[in-house]
Amino acid sequence: SKPYLIAPSILSADFARLGEEVEKVLESGADVIHFDVMDNHYVPNLTFGSMICKALRDYGIDAPIDVHLMVSPVDGMIEQFLEAGASVITFHPEASAHVDRSLQLIKDGGAECGLVLNPATPLHHLDYVMDKVDQILLMSVNPGFGGQSFIDSTLNKVRQVRERITASGRDIRLEVDGGIKASNIRAIAEAGADMFVAGSAIFNQQDYKAAIDAMRAELAL
Ligand code: DX5
Ligand code: ZN
Repeated sequence: SKPYLIAPSILSADFARLGEEVEKVLESGADVIHFDVMDNHYVPNLTFGSMICKALRDYGIDAPIDVHLMVSPVDGMIEQFLEAGASVITFHPEASAHVDRSLQLIKDGGAECGLVLNPATPLHHLDYVMDKVDQILLMSVNPGFGGQSFIDSTLNKVRQVRERITASGRDIRLEVDGGIKASNIRAIAEAGADMFVAGSAIFNQQDYKAAIDAMRAELAL
């Protein structure tokens, strides 16, 4: 697998032309499509559900789709997204009554699983699941909206989670989400992240390839 994965968040794409937007960002060098599901309950905003994921698969998108569930409860949505062709499904531990069961549901459905920690969510949520998760997503903004500023205290948290991953001896991806752009991606990588979500920093630009290339250039330094 590539050392660094760039995962554009379609939250900032033009929803009226979603299939073309996803094709375009993949042609521009994206590794993974980040799919932000919001329910106006766990977070104060509403986006899209599994039907849109299925529609992208039917349209011919075969790249990995990284589903970030900002919903509560989670298990019903997990089942729908497994059916819709999700590659990875992550959820917030506070949003699930039985975290281990939800993780196992994802694995049993053949997708990769992970937990998402908000900026103020403590790391102890990882204590008994390091043998199970394929990915850990650290939020560097409070979830619900694109275009927010990166919260700097996340960098220290990235370092701490990287230490835990190393100690686990497992190949767990460490993804960071919120406020990432070319000017801060290198520091986030140096702290230990290997997967980067970016919404506005890619989709709000005219040239998606230039935006992704600028991030890769920083990562290559
Ligand atoms: C926020 C979402 C993020 C968001 C990132 O709740 O999880 O994926 O879209 O957007 P930017 O890159 O604009 O901060
Ligand atoms: Zn996200």
